[in-house]
Amino acid sequence: MVDSSAALLAKGYTWLPDRWRRTDAPVVRARLMGRQAVALRGPDAVRFFYDERHVERRSALPEPVLSTLFGHGAVHTLDGHAHRVRKEMFLSLLTGPQAVASLVECVTAAWDEAVASWPGRPSVVLFDEASRILTRGVCRWAGVPLLDADEVARDLVAMVDGFATAGPRHWRARRARNRCEAWLGHLVEDVRAGIATAPAGSALDAVVRHRDADGEFLDPRTAAVELLNVIRPTVAVCWFVTYAGHALHHRPEVRERLREGDPAHAVAFAHELRRFYPFAPFLGGLAVTDLRWRGELIPAGTLVLLDLFGQNHDPALWDEPYTFDPRRFVDRPPPRDELIPQGGGDPAAGHRCPGEDVTVALLWALGPRLARLEYDVPDQDLRIPLNRMPARVRSGFVLGKVRVPV
Ligand code: HEM
Repeated sequence: MVDSSAALLAKGYTWLPDRWRRTDAPVVRARLMGRQAVALRGPDAVRFFYDERHVERRSALPEPVLSTLFGHGAVHTLDGHAHRVRKEMFLSLLTGPQAVASLVECVTAAWDEAVASWPGRPSVVLFDEASRILTRGVCRWAGVPLLDADEVARDLVAMVDGFATAGPRHWRARRARNRCEAWLGHLVEDVRAGIATAPAGSALDAVVRHRDADGEFLDPRTAAVELLNVIRPTVAVCWFVTYAGHALHHRPEVRERLREGDPAHAVAFAHELRRFYPFAPFLGGLAVTDLRWRGELIPAGTLVLLDLFGQNHDPALWDEPYTFDPRRFVDRPPPRDELIPQGGGDPAAGHRCPGEDVTVALLWALGPRLARLEYDVPDQDLRIPLNRMPARVRSGFVLGKVRVPV
């Protein structure tokens, strides 16, 4: 079989959906990076993929992804008991109404403060502004002091932006990760030495005091990696805030509904942003043993892909999947294994994102705030090329002559 790595790089998010359209089989077969690969989608496939007797995650993440997006030794690379113990730290920090509300409060305070200065400027780039706002908000919440928020925001964005490319973007991502790990590793050492303080109950405090499955503290570098695994993805919500600008521009009736302040619409808007717009393309793991999925043999060692973007646009699950329509989620919370932009299954038992409640709550808070602003949309490139991973709005979404309604 011909290796599809080049096709994946060239087609990006459309590679798997194109392959699904050309087959009636329950799987898509390919070769990626010299290895046999099988792609799956659908709620049953989610349950199959997240069963650790079927698929292990430990060794499936390529080095370039670890050195940019996640960090070596991150929770993403653990399986079994070691994973559960590390994961519990994230879940206790990031789930429950109190935890989510306090993070959202820090971010909305940073938003309100930043937005107050926008009317004095000819234009602002929403992507850049949102990344700085989220950086200030999440670092304040996490107990991490910032010397230069703009520089840190640039590094956090770079780590996400450069994980799936071989060019200069990738090397920028590696340098950004090295800088941030060194900075936060020193902070962890300073807290342990009593030179710096970590507010009780903060994310900084949690990584400093966390004991792994072997009863040991995390070494400073791994503690920095995990602190970054809270801060970096929160800042990555700027991708969806920018997509919110895009959606509101193209769908004025959605903006009107958000302005009316109906919470059911605000939360539905957050879900539809995560379903419709491209971000995480798919997940990968290795078949632990010879497996069968709907009669198809998946030999041990095969790379098993769960097609997140494909499932979120699967016509078997969604009416008019390529239409942006938040009404599909009004008073209908998405079933656990149908909407999977942040992974599927149970977050406590598997690798599903522990930041999903936070992501939804942030978009729920920021979407209506953006909808209530008055601004011009000057001529700009609003395309979102699907062959770029991660995709993003080309112009970053420029807001001109912002007016804050009184
Ligand atoms: C895992 C997406 C926001 C923390 C994941 C996974 C995806 C994902 C696809 C992998 C799931 C798997 O391997 O099964 C996203 C997207 C986000 C987002 C699209 C929106 C921008 C967040 C936030 C946080 C967070 C806000 C923390 C504050 C994590 C962590 C993991 C993870 C720690 C690893 C979990 C594990 O391996 O058990 N996320 N995420 N993410 N996410 Fe998120």
